[in-house]
Amino acid sequence: MKYDIPVTKTKHSRLSEVDFDNIPFGRVFSDHMFMADYIDGEWTNLKIIPFDRFAIHPASMVLHYGQAIFEGMKASKSFEGQALFLRPEKHAQRLNVSARRMCMPEIPEELFLEALHQLIAIDQAWIPPQEGSALYIRPYVFGNDEFIGVKPAEKYKFIIFTGPVGPYYPKPVSLIAEDKYVRAVKGGTGEAKAAGNYAGSLLPARIANQKGYDQVMWMDGKEFKYIQEVGTMNIFFVIDGKVITPATDGAILKGITRDSILTILRDKGYQVEERPISIDEVVAAHDAGKLEEVFGTGTAAVVAHVSKIAYKDRVMELPPMEDRKVGAMAKAEIDGLRSGTIKDTHNWIVPVGEYAQVDA
Ligand code: COI
Repeated sequence: MKYDIPVTKTKHSRLSEVDFDNIPFGRVFSDHMFMADYIDGEWTNLKIIPFDRFAIHPASMVLHYGQAIFEGMKASKSFEGQALFLRPEKHAQRLNVSARRMCMPEIPEELFLEALHQLIAIDQAWIPPQEGSALYIRPYVFGNDEFIGVKPAEKYKFIIFTGPVGPYYPKPVSLIAEDKYVRAVKGGTGEAKAAGNYAGSLLPARIANQKGYDQVMWMDGKEFKYIQEVGTMNIFFVIDGKVITPATDGAILKGITRDSILTILRDKGYQVEERPISIDEVVAAHDAGKLEEVFGTGTAAVVAHVSKIAYKDRVMELPPMEDRKVGAMAKAEIDGLRSGTIKDTHNWIVPVGEYAQVDA
C-alpha cells in the first residue's frame, strides 16, 4: 500500500432498496465514492466517502472548455462469490493516454488501482450476481480551476463511483452508416476517452433514432468511406469466415474489450484482420451473401449484435441470431472469464481487494 486513503462509511446504506433483477443501466449508484484533488502538482485529499453530490465553482473550467476524460469498467462476481476485475490496469493506462491527449496530469497507476480496489472492496455487496449484470465503475478526471480563459487547468478532480447495471443493449442494435457527421479524425481526440467526443455524437445519434435506428456507424471524416466504430463501441465484421475490425488509426478508441476479443479469436484459431474496412466492402459482402455477422464490443455492451445497417438508400439485413456463432462465442468467453467458469489463461482476472485495507 503506497497511498493512505481515509474511509468514511455511510450510515444509511441504500443497498436494500435495489431490485437486482430489474436494474436500469446507469441510474442506480452504490453507497461510496472515491475522490482526489490535483493541487500544486500532486494528487492529494484522497478519500472514500458516502456517495453524494459535491459542489464546484460556477467558473470551474470543465464546464466551459470540457477538459474531462473517463473510463468505463466493471467488477463481477465469480460463481464462487469472489469479486473480480477484468484487466483493471489496462483502464488505468488508457486513462493516462486520454490524460496526455487532453493536457491533463496523469494518475499514477498504483493510485488508480489502490483507490479502485478499496472502493470496490467496500461496496462489493453491490455487485449483482445475475448473469449479464455487473458493477459498472466510472473513473473520471476533470479540470477544476475557477477561471475564464482557454488553457490547461492547474487543479483537477479524480473521482470513481460505481453502480450495478444490467445489459446496456438488451437486444440487437440497428445502425445507420453516417455520411454527414463525423465522430473523429486522425489528429483529433478520437483515441482519447474524452467527454467531448460523446457530446459531439449526440445530434447524429438523435437523428438516427428519429429515423428508427439505435446507433450511428461512424466513418472516416475525409472520404466517408472507411468504418471507424459504432455508437459507443468498436465494431467487428465476419465476412466469409474471416473476422475483420478497423485498425486503430488515432481516430478510433482502443477498446479494451476489443483487444480481449481479438486475443480470444486468435487463440481459437480464427482468421482475424485489423485493417481499414470500407463501407463498399461491407455492401459487396452483403450482396454476395458473405456478410455473416456484425457486432459491437465495449465494456458496457460487452458484445452487441447488429440486426441491420442502413447506408444511403439501402438497408442491409443481417442473418438471424441463431447463426451468429462468432459474436456469441466472444460474449460467452468474456462472460465466462468474469464469472470464473472459463479458465483465465492470460492473467486478465484480478480479485478485488488486492490492495484493500478495509473491511468489506
Ligand atoms: C463503456 O463501454 O463502458 C463506455 O464507456 C461507453 C459508455 C458511454 C456507456
